[in-house]
Amino acid sequence: MSKVLALSFGRKMSNTDVFLKEVLLKCQEAGHEIKFMRPDDYDIRPCTGCCACVGGIMSGRTNGTCIHKDDFHLIEDAFYDADCVLIGSPVYETSPSGTFKTFCDRMGPSHDLAFLTEAKKERLARGGENVLLPDERVFKPRIGCLVGVGGAMTENWTIMTIPIMYESMMSSGVDVIDTHMYYGAMEVDHILGVPEQMARADKMAENVIAALAAETEEERTMWRGVDEDDYACPVCHQSLFKVHQGSDRVECTICGIDGKVELKDGKIHYVFSEKEQARSRMKYAGKLEHRNEIAHGAMTQRKTENLRALKEKYLHVGE
Ligand SMILES: Cc1cc2nc3c(=O)[nH]c(=O)nc-3n(C[C@H](O)[C@H](O)[C@H](O)COP(=O)(O)O)c2cc1C
Repeated sequence: MSKVLALSFGRKMSNTDVFLKEVLLKCQEAGHEIKFMRPDDYDIRPCTGCCACVGGIMSGRTNGTCIHKDDFHLIEDAFYDADCVLIGSPVYETSPSGTFKTFCDRMGPSHDLAFLTEAKKERLARGGENVLLPDERVFKPRIGCLVGVGGAMTENWTIMTIPIMYESMMSSGVDVIDTHMYYGAMEVDHILGVPEQMARADKMAENVIAALAAETEEERTMWRGVDEDDYACPVCHQSLFKVHQGSDRVECTICGIDGKVELKDGKIHYVFSEKEQARSRMKYAGKLEHRNEIAHGAMTQRKTENLRALKEKYLHVGE
């Protein structure tokens, strides 16, 4: 038996909630333990950008503790308990909701798998009494699914939603196995009146159940989304790229990896080498690359002389 958690950022008992609850019910029928949470119902404050969490991990003082004393620990605890995390958000202005973004920021560096893995190694190597080690659940392998619900009649008005939703799985290293975008939701009063969408939720549940039953790591993490031929990045299975004008270079905005554009019979193909695929930030190697760049660059910050005096001129500008 595994634990499946769903986090919904939609309206109470509306489309996103019910899609996720349908997946949960099927998982429960298959013998898994389920939990449903709506972060909007909790007191979750936005990240202030103080970086105390990263500083704490790097210095060994904390395991990424946040300065906020709010309800986030309840979501964090459920997340760490889970073997599978389902995340659903409505589409607001082509992207996920604001609370969703707050959730991602709070799950960011403070929950980064590479930051915490390296911290554990360094602290164990240093030894001594009362070594502060991260919660062991940080290192538990997890799979995840992403669901977006857009009211607009065209998929075009949902375009950044699923790609941005990958953020929620990035730092903690969840392997995304399926994603779904339900668009045109405002055409009907409720998803319960749309059998195809309820069937898609059942398909997502089937994918989760199969992945949780997998015997190998490859089988557990393999992509099970139904849109198999409709993506360009072989790692995240999405197609949101930065195009570098005047070159043949494209960059996957989710994975942060470089590919090349090739034209074959008048059709565009995107080619990502095995080496680039391996350094996707959705994988451990990509996270480690970032952790090292922060540890050896950002954390050993160059100091500006007379900073206080230089700031004086800007203190009350435009107030
Ligand atoms: C502020 C706001 C912005 C929205 N922007 C979009 C949008 O850009 N694209 C879209 O497809 N739907 C948009 N919608 C519609 C919602 O995505 C739609 O109502 C959806 O069903 C909400 O999910 P829920 O029923 O689970 O709450 C917007 C709704 C609101 C309130």
